[in-house]
Amino acid sequence: MIIPRLFLFISFFSLVLCNEKFNSHVLPRPLILETTQLRELDNEVQLQCTSWRFGVEANNLNPWKTIPLECADYVKDYMLGRAYRLDLERVSNEAGIYAKSLELSGDGKDIWVFDVDDTLLSHLPYYADHGYGLEIFDPAEFNRWVDKALAPAIEPSLKLYKEVMGLGFKVFLLTGRSESQRSMTEENLINAGFQNWEKLILRGSEDHAKLATVFKSDKRSEMVKEGYRILGNSGDQWSDLLGSFMSNRSFKLPNPMYFIV
Ligand SMILES: *[C@@H]1O[C@H](CO)[C@@H](O)[C@H](O)[C@H]1NC(C)=O
Repeated sequence: MIIPRLFLFISFFSLVLCNEKFNSHVLPRPLILETTQLRELDNEVQLQCTSWRFGVEANNLNPWKTIPLECADYVKDYMLGRAYRLDLERVSNEAGIYAKSLELSGDGKDIWVFDVDDTLLSHLPYYADHGYGLEIFDPAEFNRWVDKALAPAIEPSLKLYKEVMGLGFKVFLLTGRSESQRSMTEENLINAGFQNWEKLILRGSEDHAKLATVFKSDKRSEMVKEGYRILGNSGDQWSDLLGSFMSNRSFKLPNPMYFIV
């Protein structure tokens, strides 16, 4: 956004300068007005879309299907610019501070749960080809991308992953991906730098009809019944974090591109 703004700013002043140098009747005033109006509209879109994104991240907009058309450039700028990275780093850092503050029991039952898609592995390369959430989600097309096992790591999550492991947490990966995608999921995770998880839990045949919140709650309930203590949970969707048998602390990663019920 900085470059187009700067450009508008410069063109605004060059118009003013032209106006002063030459006959002020040659360049009609409305030209200048148009430029300022453009800048205001730009600001208004920025404001509206920031407000929309706040609603998304706070789970006030629930459910939503695609990003608003007028926010297409805004979401793209957010995802590709520094803001998304900064937000990811903040979540990872805060989670790390919390993890370090805990005294683990040492019995191997203290666990941290991570979601996989857009929590550990980034689907930004896929969404870059699909309007950053502007297109209605196409599961078949998305699965073809998943099967390639090429998703890069979300670096701040990899940092947290290594940190909690170093502290002695057992790591559980809980994903809405299907059991049939287990081998490519493992391959992708390992290639992206994730190793030594305790369990990778995918959707079995009995889980396919379940909403993500229900599936994940059911799986967390099994963990608790097995005596595990879920002390931390990281996910980019509220459905990773809410429901029953919630973690002592949940960490919501930013994701303005899509919403999973
Ligand atoms: C986690 O939450 C449970 C249930 O509320 C509580 O008993 C336990 O003390 C909490 N553990 C930590 C480490 O905060």
